[in-house]
Amino acid sequence: MPQKREHKGMEKQFKRTLITTALPYANGPVHIGHLAGVYVPADIYARYLRLKGEDVLMIGGSDEHGVPITIRAKKEGITPQDVVDRYHSIIKQSFADFGITFDIYSRTTSDTHREVASEFFRTLYNKGEFIEKTTEQYYDEEVKQFLADRYITGTCPHCKNENAYGDQCEACGTSLNATDLTHPKSTISGSAPILKETKHWYLPLDKHEPFLRKWILEDHKEWKPNVYGQCKSWLDMGLQPRAVSRDLDWGIPVPVKGAEGKVLYVWFDAPIGYISNTKELLPDSWEKWWKDPESKIVHFIGKDNIVFHCIVFPAMLKAEGSFNLPENVPANEFLNLEGDKISTSRNWAVWLHEYLEEMPGKQDVLRYVLTANAPETKDNDFTWKDFQARNNNELVAILGNFVNRALVLTQKYFDGKVPAAGKLTDYDRDTLTEFANVKQAVERLLDTYHFRDAQKEAMNLARIGNKYLADTEPWKLAKTDMDRVATILNIALQITANLAIAFEPFLPFSMDKLNKMLNVEPLGWNCLGETNLLAAGHQLGQPELLFEKIEDSVIEAQVQKLLDTKKANEEADYKAKPIRKNIEFDDFLKLDIRVGTVLECTKVPKADKLLQFRINDGLKTRTIVSGIAGYYQPEELVGKQVCFIANLAPRKLRGIVSEGMILSAEDADGTLSVITTAKNVKPGSEVK
Ligand code: 2FM
Ligand code: ZN
Repeated sequence: MPQKREHKGMEKQFKRTLITTALPYANGPVHIGHLAGVYVPADIYARYLRLKGEDVLMIGGSDEHGVPITIRAKKEGITPQDVVDRYHSIIKQSFADFGITFDIYSRTTSDTHREVASEFFRTLYNKGEFIEKTTEQYYDEEVKQFLADRYITGTCPHCKNENAYGDQCEACGTSLNATDLTHPKSTISGSAPILKETKHWYLPLDKHEPFLRKWILEDHKEWKPNVYGQCKSWLDMGLQPRAVSRDLDWGIPVPVKGAEGKVLYVWFDAPIGYISNTKELLPDSWEKWWKDPESKIVHFIGKDNIVFHCIVFPAMLKAEGSFNLPENVPANEFLNLEGDKISTSRNWAVWLHEYLEEMPGKQDVLRYVLTANAPETKDNDFTWKDFQARNNNELVAILGNFVNRALVLTQKYFDGKVPAAGKLTDYDRDTLTEFANVKQAVERLLDTYHFRDAQKEAMNLARIGNKYLADTEPWKLAKTDMDRVATILNIALQITANLAIAFEPFLPFSMDKLNKMLNVEPLGWNCLGETNLLAAGHQLGQPELLFEKIEDSVIEAQVQKLLDTKKANEEADYKAKPIRKNIEFDDFLKLDIRVGTVLECTKVPKADKLLQFRINDGLKTRTIVSGIAGYYQPEELVGKQVCFIANLAPRKLRGIVSEGMILSAEDADGTLSVITTAKNVKPGSEVK
């Protein structure tokens, strides 16, 4: 059945849906954040559409290029190919273990991908869709190689930290260009790099801006507010040309003359991976999925990928000219773990392969909890206590309990054969109507990417069933009114069969088990809401428990594991940043730290990381530029009191004279949080 969607007042019909899922970097295993943000929602959506009998493809794969992979390889003394081979198979296995139903899970080092990505570049090149620019970049003469920003360290011009990276100083948070560093050093050879001219190809995003503005801001007002808002803010800042090539020896060679030693930028080739993986799967019919106007493309991604999927990739597709653009990009926010940001490098994560070793057979519990807590509209937190509570109080106590009672009672009173319903009471009829409505509600939510509410709605069906059994108490009627017991259990079993459909997209392993207990082949989505799915006399299978209670000791062990990680991280942090050597009191007095009130705060155009403040310092209004744009929306800080160094010599940042420095605390994961006062004080007050 074709899908319908409101489209500028008209209903747009689609014949098929192409679901893509962000290609994870193959430089580490995958964790619960990946699953919650991208792969579980995409899989729910794909399973739902398939159950409805629609034509669906779900495309996945590993993103195997990029500088971090080469850094990891160097560190371990192996090749980048070794790194991606290792993690590609671990990641692929984890997804298979969690029932993520990719039609293909391939990789960006495949031959097909190299061909498709090269061809894509060549097409844009031949159409004159790139601009060529020559700039000066650092070059390591010893290893004869241009250096990516992360391969350069040096002294930060602002805080004098000697280990700042070429793109950012992690000590003061300022975003840098490699050429801002004093005493730059190549991390590969340790030598001082020289500046050397290099040519690159740029996608002129500015040229596509008017189109993108209309396509997103006018034609896709239905996109999630977090996605729409981020796009709007990028567009409002003005788009710049973006380099789509790099000087690197790992990646897809730039396929034109005069490009020796250059590869495609990882963010140019990765999204093309969706196309090449479709082609690898369907060499003869892939094009209809990408080019037929009746095909709908939906990209499932995390919030850090929004700009690439809503702005850069659509601009590439538009420039190429023959592809459809995505209909929707239902990006999620981030999932935190026990209050802290998930971090691969700090091992602050629940790794999927470890989870399965420690909780064998509990894939659905994690799928359920991650959907119940999905970061759909804001960042959310995963805690083991909540995991336990949702398992014990919802999966076991509501869904499992209801199904088990319906099946065990039928076994007991009717030898496991579905009893025929007799005369219905008003209450029976009300219950049947109530559960028939669930279909529409779940559909409406799934069609609009509200997976969390959709699952809640499915759970309501089990609640209806539980209440029905609790109110009718068939076990008390067994001695006096077996006809009534038959009717009640018939209804309870029909609800159970409905649950097997409604929960299939969410809890596929458990619903497989339930179908076996019901002794039925999986039923299609269109049967949902029907009240005669199981015929009288149908022989059921053996009842088993769908879910089991999780004991405190299991949860405590998981929490302890995280506490051990935290302790190890704290020790490592302390070692990495020991307290500096003592200074004299007079030295301290040289610092004039004051409190100011933020009057205005705005993003610095063309600088991702900088905010420009206008601050009331007690005497006048001063301008300070600070590298904290990644951690605050400017409007959040207006009216706040901040502490700043008032006698720091003024310096220019991106052409703006900054008169001081706003103090921030740096969290273990690098997040910056501005220092404010516990009570409101007069602007200009000294901090001592
Ligand atoms: O953020 C990431 O993990 C990227 N590797 C996602 C790439 S998505 C797509 F473009 F392939
Ligand atoms: Zn610095």
